[in-house]
Parts: sequence; structure tokens; C-alpha cells
Amino acid sequence: MKAEDVSVRGLEWDDFDDIVRCYYSYYDELSVNPDLGITLYASKPSLADEISWFSGLYTQFVEGKAFVSVAETGGHVGGICDIRPIGNREEEAHVGVLGIALIPEIRGMGIGEKMMSRTLNEARLRYKIIVLDVFTVNKAARKLYSKMGFKTIGVLPKALKRGGRYYDEERMYLEL
Ligand SMILES: CC(C)(COP(=O)(O)OP(=O)(O)OC[C@H]1O[C@@H](n2cnc3c(N)ncnc32)[C@H](O)[C@@H]1OP(=O)(O)O)[C@@H](O)C(=O)NCCC(=O)NCCS
Repeated sequence: MKAEDVSVRGLEWDDFDDIVRCYYSYYDELSVNPDLGITLYASKPSLADEISWFSGLYTQFVEGKAFVSVAETGGHVGGICDIRPIGNREEEAHVGVLGIALIPEIRGMGIGEKMMSRTLNEARLRYKIIVLDVFTVNKAARKLYSKMGFKTIGVLPKALKRGGRYYDEERMYLEL
């Protein structure tokens, strides 16, 4: 797989199946990659939960409250980057939360950077501050975020417990 085989574009309603498939695959990846930098539930959410999550995301997307880019290769989506409102109060409407995840096959090729650039550029329309949380062990993500201009606010020690191990989490922000 080469970076040229992957395109980055906006979210489409038909992406649902692929996005759920990617998300479910992260649960399988955990067994071989216990440091995977995504916070997961104890078990895979049901398809009904996924439908409800995606409908919420898509609704915010068409309302202009969420900005979402996906990475597509071979006719399928293999990654998503989204910026969503931090809450639903008017006073915090300028603050967005960023999330990003790609399937392993398309990591480490600059796709994450491409997706973030696209999503952040669009998010300027609405947001002034973007925040995110990242496991301190997640070198790739931390490097990418620093490169995009994110600054560290602080570290929450032992923010997550996974399989008997604690993980520290860094909160970062970007002013647009
Ligand atoms: C984190 C993630 C989104 C980064 O996207 P990506 O496309 O793999 O990253 P890029 O290829 O754009 O690389 C970004 C930078 O990190 C570096 N990098 C990539 N993999 C790395 C690794 N394993 N260790 C250290 N640095 C790494 C790259 O070299 C690049 O820096 P450079 O431009 O100075 O060379 C992706 O790896 C991923 O989805 N990981 C699993 C889910 C996850 O951790 N999400 C983030 C949750 S906070």
C-alpha cells in the first residue's frame, strides 16, 4: 500500500459500514497491540449503538457543527478524523474535540497528517480552540499533533486502566 493509493475526502452517509468495520477491528487489534491509543468500551458496542453514534455524528456534520474527513482506499474507508462540539452550551460552542484513527494498513504514510490538515482547515469556520487527549505512550499520535501545532496543557497520570496497566494521558490544544 502506498500513500498515493489513499484519498482523503469528506464524510458520506454510505461510509457507515466501513467506519463500523474499522472501529470493530480496533477491538481485535488490542490483543496484539495492548498500547493501542484509542479508548474503547469493555466490549464491542452493538450495531444498534453504532447506528445511534453514526446518526449523531452525521447530523452534526450536516448541521455544520462537526467536521469529518475519511481516508478511502480501494473503494473502502480505512480511517476517520472528526472534530465535534465539546458540549451543547452556547458559551463553549467555539471549542471542538478532535479524534482520529486509521486501520494499521494505512498508518505511517502521512495520511493522518493529510486528514488532520483537511479537518482543521474546515473547522476554522466554527471553532477557535481544538482539544484532544492522547496516551503518553502513543508516539506517532503525539508527533503528529505537535507537528500540527498542538500544545500540551498537562498530563493526567493513570487516566486509563487497561488489562491491569495504567496509562497516562496528555491533554493538548490548538488555537485556530
Ligand atoms: C495516530 C495516527 C492517527 C497517526 O496517523 P499516521 O497517518 O499513522 O501518521 P503520519 O504517517 O501522518 O505520521 C505523523 C508523524 O508521526 C511519525 N510516526 C508515525 N508512526 C510513528 C511511530 N510508530 N513512532 C514514532 N513516530 C511515528 C511520522 O514519522 C510522522 O512524523 P514526520 O512527518 O516527522 O515523519 C495513526 O497512527 C493511528 O490511527 N493510530 C491508531 C489510533 C490512534 O492512536 N489514534 C490517536 C488517538 S489520540
